[in-house]
Amino acid sequence: MDQQNLDHCHRITYCVTGATGYIGSWLVKTLLDKGYTVNATVRNLSSASCDRLLTLWQGGDRLRLFRADLHEEGSFDDAVKGCHGVFHVAASMDVIVQSIHDDRDHVESNVYVLSKRLTEDAAFQFAKENNIQLVSIITTTAAGPFLTLSVPLSIRVLLSPITGDTGLLPVLSAVNSRMGSIALVHTEDICNAHLYLMEHDQAQGRYICCTNSCTMSELVHHFAKVYPSPSSQSLLEAEMVSVPTEITSKKLKDLGFKFKYSLQEVIHQTVDCCIDHGFLPPIKTEKM
Ligand SMILES: NC(=O)c1ccc[n+]([C@@H]2O[C@H](COP(=O)([O-])OP(=O)(O)OC[C@H]3O[C@@H](n4cnc5c(N)ncnc54)[C@H](OP(=O)(O)O)[C@@H]3O)[C@@H](O)[C@H]2O)c1
Repeated sequence: MDQQNLDHCHRITYCVTGATGYIGSWLVKTLLDKGYTVNATVRNLSSASCDRLLTLWQGGDRLRLFRADLHEEGSFDDAVKGCHGVFHVAASMDVIVQSIHDDRDHVESNVYVLSKRLTEDAAFQFAKENNIQLVSIITTTAAGPFLTLSVPLSIRVLLSPITGDTGLLPVLSAVNSRMGSIALVHTEDICNAHLYLMEHDQAQGRYICCTNSCTMSELVHHFAKVYPSPSSQSLLEAEMVSVPTEITSKKLKDLGFKFKYSLQEVIHQTVDCCIDHGFLPPIKTEKM
């Protein structure tokens, strides 16, 4: 990037909410790397995860941290003041696991999906009434590298066929049966798509951000090749029912956005990152 562009980016300030989260932390890194100034919100300014991210972000004077909580009215005011745009990615993800384990009825078992839909409707209504330009991004399962201290929930769910986590495997199976497939997208592509839409004059409404999708059984086959484990081996033999559906990012691509990573790269990088992190033990190589 030339000096003129860099000076231009330095003068643009974006707010990122939920900066300690999986997507939020990568988004802060993306913006800082591209030269923007960032107001990042966190719930706890003195947490270990915040300390770790500060060393990884290397934001210097282009990064300011603010304490804000979705349950505290007005707590985001200072962080968004004077910003050119807000990437609102803070959200509680606990509900995704609770909802899958709650089989009282169909609606309650989809609490996560329902809460997202209602939040989106309310946000569009508020934006309309207050003349705010709002774009919604529906991200499919995020995977690939991460900066967070602990392994993000979406990655632990995705890798459950490998780890055999009996609490999270039903979450993945439920996604597969509800959607007909598991749709993945790389962390970097998610963040680039957020920025692309933020800066595109014609961006409006909602966009699905998805690299590609595969059925649960295809996913298990990918895993068996990349990272063989007893759990994925036994799943290979199980019959998994899915009715494939097409989850497409056509609207995003039609606007000109290009995805950088393929489905195979997403899977490979997720596994590699989890080995580096220590979440997955290194793959044993056969002695000659
Ligand atoms: N990851 C995925 O596969 C995926 C897929 C589709 C959509 N999404 C959506 O993308 C967004 C981010 O997901 P993620 O995977 O990055 O989640 P995440 O890693 O759990 O991060 C959530 C972030 O929100 C913050 N947060 C939670 N409750 C909060 C509250 N009451 N007030 C302020 N901040 C709060 C968390 O702060 P703490 O660090 O303090 O907990 C964290 O920074 C969510 O809206 C999620 O639904 C994610």
